[in-house]
Amino acid sequence: MQYRKARELREMFIKFWEEKGAKHLESFSLVPEDPSLLFTIAGMVPLKPYYLGIKEPEYPRVVTCQKCVRTNDIENVGRTARHHTFFEMLGNFSWGSYFKHEAITWAWEFLTERIGLDPERLYATIYLDDDEAFNVWNKEVGLPAEKIYRFGQDDNYWFMGETGPCGPCSEIYYDRGEKYSCGKETCGVGCDCDRYMEIWNLVFTQFDRQKDGSLPLLPHKNIDTGMGLERLASVIQEVDTDYETDLFTPLIEHTCKRAGITYGNNPRDDMAVRVIADHVRSVVFMMADGVLPLNDGMGYVLRRLLRRAVRFGKLLNFDGLFLNEYVPILIDIMGNPYRELITQRPVIEQIINLEEEKFNKTLKQGTELFDEEISHLKAQGINQIPGDVIFTLYDTYGFPPELTQEMAEEQNFTLDKEGFKAAMNEQRERARASSKQKKSALAGDIYTELENENGATKFTGYEKFTDGGKVLALINSDGRIDTITGPAEFEIVLDVTPFYPERGGEVGDTGTIKINNLSLKVLNTTPHGKIIVHSVKLETEGKISVNDEAICLVDNERRKAIRRNHTATHLLHEALGRVLGRHVRQAGSLVADEFLRFDFTHHSPVTDEEIAETEKIINAEILANVEVDISEHSKHEAQALGAKALFDEKYGDVVRVVNVPDFSMELCGGLHVKRTGDIGGFKILREENIGSGTRRILATTGMNILTILQKLFALRNSLTALLATDEDNLKDKAQTLIDDMKTMRSQIQAAKLRELLENSEKFLEREEINGVLFQVGRFADIPANMLRDIGDKARARPEANVVILSSRNTEDNSCQIVVMADDKAVNMGVNAGALVKEACAVLGGKGGGRKNVAQGGGREGEKLEQALNGVREQIKSQVK
Ligand code: ALA
Repeated sequence: MQYRKARELREMFIKFWEEKGAKHLESFSLVPEDPSLLFTIAGMVPLKPYYLGIKEPEYPRVVTCQKCVRTNDIENVGRTARHHTFFEMLGNFSWGSYFKHEAITWAWEFLTERIGLDPERLYATIYLDDDEAFNVWNKEVGLPAEKIYRFGQDDNYWFMGETGPCGPCSEIYYDRGEKYSCGKETCGVGCDCDRYMEIWNLVFTQFDRQKDGSLPLLPHKNIDTGMGLERLASVIQEVDTDYETDLFTPLIEHTCKRAGITYGNNPRDDMAVRVIADHVRSVVFMMADGVLPLNDGMGYVLRRLLRRAVRFGKLLNFDGLFLNEYVPILIDIMGNPYRELITQRPVIEQIINLEEEKFNKTLKQGTELFDEEISHLKAQGINQIPGDVIFTLYDTYGFPPELTQEMAEEQNFTLDKEGFKAAMNEQRERARASSKQKKSALAGDIYTELENENGATKFTGYEKFTDGGKVLALINSDGRIDTITGPAEFEIVLDVTPFYPERGGEVGDTGTIKINNLSLKVLNTTPHGKIIVHSVKLETEGKISVNDEAICLVDNERRKAIRRNHTATHLLHEALGRVLGRHVRQAGSLVADEFLRFDFTHHSPVTDEEIAETEKIINAEILANVEVDISEHSKHEAQALGAKALFDEKYGDVVRVVNVPDFSMELCGGLHVKRTGDIGGFKILREENIGSGTRRILATTGMNILTILQKLFALRNSLTALLATDEDNLKDKAQTLIDDMKTMRSQIQAAKLRELLENSEKFLEREEINGVLFQVGRFADIPANMLRDIGDKARARPEANVVILSSRNTEDNSCQIVVMADDKAVNMGVNAGALVKEACAVLGGKGGGRKNVAQGGGREGEKLEQALNGVREQIKSQVK
């Protein structure tokens, strides 16, 4: 067989299908648009809308080489010859254009005629009753009936997922020969051993599987095929495993060289070598598509892979950070066609570095703890790792539980998963309890007591902003009391309240509670378990008791502003996803009345253009004035609707879904506007980095925009008046002024220096040390070359002399010095270089030079006199 590189195979595949009328599309992102999948798992995933008929295909025939990630089997990667988390899928697709006949005969043509596989070694499988496919294989291709196998749904039916496009398929197998056989009598196509290898899957996609399992027909008969590039390369390159193809060998070679081992000598090392090669590919490609290491979703998979690779590196005794060494190697192999590896390289390397460093810090300690635990348990004859140990490794050392599991398996240990879950729950409880404690500085366990006595506070704030209630409890630093006399600050709990308690990033309501004709100012409202607590201030005299009737009046203007900012936060979340990419995820948020703050995952600064685009999308949605639809659902229903949920947020069984139709849908318990038009307008005020791949946006809505605009206009007016110009020329005018000032400054400086040089004699102090004239000049803000000019002039004297000149920077307090000695002084033993060296050390810096001229400086200008004294002493010892 003719040897071909993987790159060549990729190109041949694309060219072949282009000749068959297909349009070549570049690989789509690993992050799918489709929320039902975590990653792009097949070539057809990004093309799903064409199968479903929701989108008309621009081209009815397409060919791609698609980046894919499948993570269902991470633990197996490295153990076997062909498991990968990242792979490339060669695929050809047709929507209502060609079908079975062409898909099969052309696939055959490609394999046998184009790349030269031996037809004798090829086999096909088909779905049980697919006689149509049988006939094409048998009659048209000419494959003998005994080389066509019929299999059931498990093998010959392809589903994209629980729901979505699917259909019967036909697979092409390649016989790699006797020597790969398991030797069993039953060995044949479908056997698990290495002899018969599936290379290409042709799916006849005709159905759209529904949740209930039914299979309605799709609008067209379609084709979806997938051939793993790694496998195909292993066949063509005639190597035993995918890892020996040119897609992997440079990665493998680097690892072996670094570890000082030879691949194929020791199964344990080989596994580590393969794990690193596979995981590095996934990690780098995921990051190139904007995925960041996090504790949930895609980010968690990435983190797990990265950490698993690091641990396997340690098994090969790798020291320090090593993952980034693979980035340039991978770019060599795959930078063409995957240019994102090159453009994203700086970000990728930076994040890998951070994450690897972070994990390295704790890996050693965690491993020690693990080893200790194992020997301890072994001594007791136990072979299960207790839940609290798994938890400590997870919580303190950042070991994904799957990693601990794998380490345990290497030692023939199992994990106490129930115990681990219990430890996790306990920690959650502790966190909850401690946050409660913090908030209830006044109240201790009073809130729990109240909850037990009265149940939850009834919240009526979704519909109302005023309501009546009854005082259930009054709490001050003494605890629960029956009556409070004003003026006083305390907490009050009612049976019913329209005051929204601070939750889900939204601040609590403020306003007034009226009791017995007294007005209580509500400073804040907070939740404590199911109890809503109002922090209030009674500024006048008067008496309030438990059981009194209360009338609640929420500050509705403030609340309206909060509502606007909250709905705007949802719009912002969606708009950022559209503008920056689907990797954007909420990492935190604060919704207040004057502004909203939104933290999200994104690895580079948001450009001015991206900000403008985001603002435009949001304001268009505001102008469209669509009705915001809020409804309650079971968690399950909400998920099915596709509502965005936050991973770290706990939701009850019944959830509120806030839907801005055709734009954004999120689970949310907060307060929102009725129509998007109520938001009034949206403006981003600031965008900044807050670390770990997270950015922060500060924005505002409604009247706040007007306030800001008015302030800006006032500023503009005063500036244009001050500079006697108009808005259009303001910037030029300011620039001219700055330029003029710079010119003037340097002119003044030059004049000052000229004068200084002319009169420098006047500025020097003189004394005599051991027969050498010692001249000292202290200056400020003059450049070193000028100091040398002054020194030159001063040094030209009849007697042996040393000149030391300093210039202190009045802005940053640093100090430069120049020392010059004439020949006579040098002959007497003076060494300017040595003098400068020591003086600079005193100034907190460095310097040096020759015997007659030297210079340097330091940051601590205040130590100049100390440095000069040192120089005096040194001259004494130099001149004997
Ligand atoms: N979508 C099909 C597969 O992944 C081709 O096997």
